[in-house]
Amino acid sequence: MKVLIGVSGSVAAYKSLILARLLFKRGHNLKVVLTRGSLHFVAPLSFQELAGAEVFTEGDFFRGNTHIDLARWPDLFIVAPATFNVIGKVANGIADDLLTSIAAAYNGPIHFAPAMHTEMWRNPILRRNLSTLKRFGHVILPVGTGELASGDVGEGRMMEPEDVAAYVEDVGKLRSFWEGKRVVITYGGTQEPIDDVRVITNRSSGRMGIALASALTSAGAYVVAIACGDVDVAPARELHRVRTVEELYEVLKGMDYDYLFMAAAVSDYRPEYRKGKIKKNSESLTLNLVRTRDVLTSIAGEKRGIIVGFALEEPHRLHTEAQRKLREKGIDYVVANPTEVIGREETRVFLYGREGLLGEFSGAKWEVARQIVRALASV
Ligand code: CTP
Repeated sequence: MKVLIGVSGSVAAYKSLILARLLFKRGHNLKVVLTRGSLHFVAPLSFQELAGAEVFTEGDFFRGNTHIDLARWPDLFIVAPATFNVIGKVANGIADDLLTSIAAAYNGPIHFAPAMHTEMWRNPILRRNLSTLKRFGHVILPVGTGELASGDVGEGRMMEPEDVAAYVEDVGKLRSFWEGKRVVITYGGTQEPIDDVRVITNRSSGRMGIALASALTSAGAYVVAIACGDVDVAPARELHRVRTVEELYEVLKGMDYDYLFMAAAVSDYRPEYRKGKIKKNSESLTLNLVRTRDVLTSIAGEKRGIIVGFALEEPHRLHTEAQRKLREKGIDYVVANPTEVIGREETRVFLYGREGLLGEFSGAKWEVARQIVRALASV
């Protein structure tokens, strides 16, 4: 794989040297970008000699289109170590050096391996910046707890290079299945108009769909994302935005795909639309709701590829309902989550195929997305 490693200014930069060496020994092709701060800790020559890497520093920034060329090059882009500063800059759209300009131009999920002191790791501004990055499908690798450079013990150690290398290897394996596959992902929640100013919708954040788009883009798939409602932009080669169930159906019905992930929370009912703005001229108002089309059932009739449906169910009927939906909607897989995970950072899902339960995965949404993508590749 072509791996681009961005190294920012932390004492943990020595770990990226080990990471580069491990990846080099496993046959990966490396380019390394060193920030000004990182040069206090590591030298370009070390990466060249230990990992056969082509190394770029600030001096290369204004030479031709280095940041664009580098942003177009990798299969996987990882910032390790990622400091408080580099995370803050990328999350807020600041591109004032070579590494952050590459990040700005890179059209895919960036993997960050943070490294910092515990106080900085817990800083609410960092927490907000990390959640901004996650909202757009970037991946934040977990930090370790242990001895920090200061001698203190706490959270914030950069993930060990062996673990980062294992992660990269895993992405490489997924690529052998997903590379070049056309994957359509619907996510978010549909909105149905009541009148010209009001809608009925649901509270889907679209996070699971964004995490899937991120995992599949990293795995080399050609991802087409269909965002329903006002959810964030997923990492994808094409993005469509729809609001109503009918708009979703119209976009989907002519689409070709190898895999369709129907993660959108689709409205089951819509109000009878009234033109203009309903005035408040009575004490109560009754809205008549009518059934919407079941999009999956409508398109499963002329199936063009493998279809993965999603189901949010109360725990006591999750298993029976997931299997019923799989049969009745004529689809290949169902990812079922219990209602108790709504609104949580972490999730828990059960993956069903026609033969029954294939796996149960839990953890951060990006990790669960990766497990689903891995399980589908090996069935
Ligand atoms: N779905 C769909 N069209 C609808 C409703 C749901 O295509 N009108 C899709 C969803 O995107 C999801 C799957 O069907 O992939 C299951 O959605 P869910 O809301 O759990 O199930 P429903 O079929 O709506 O059944 P119920 O609401 O009764 O649980």
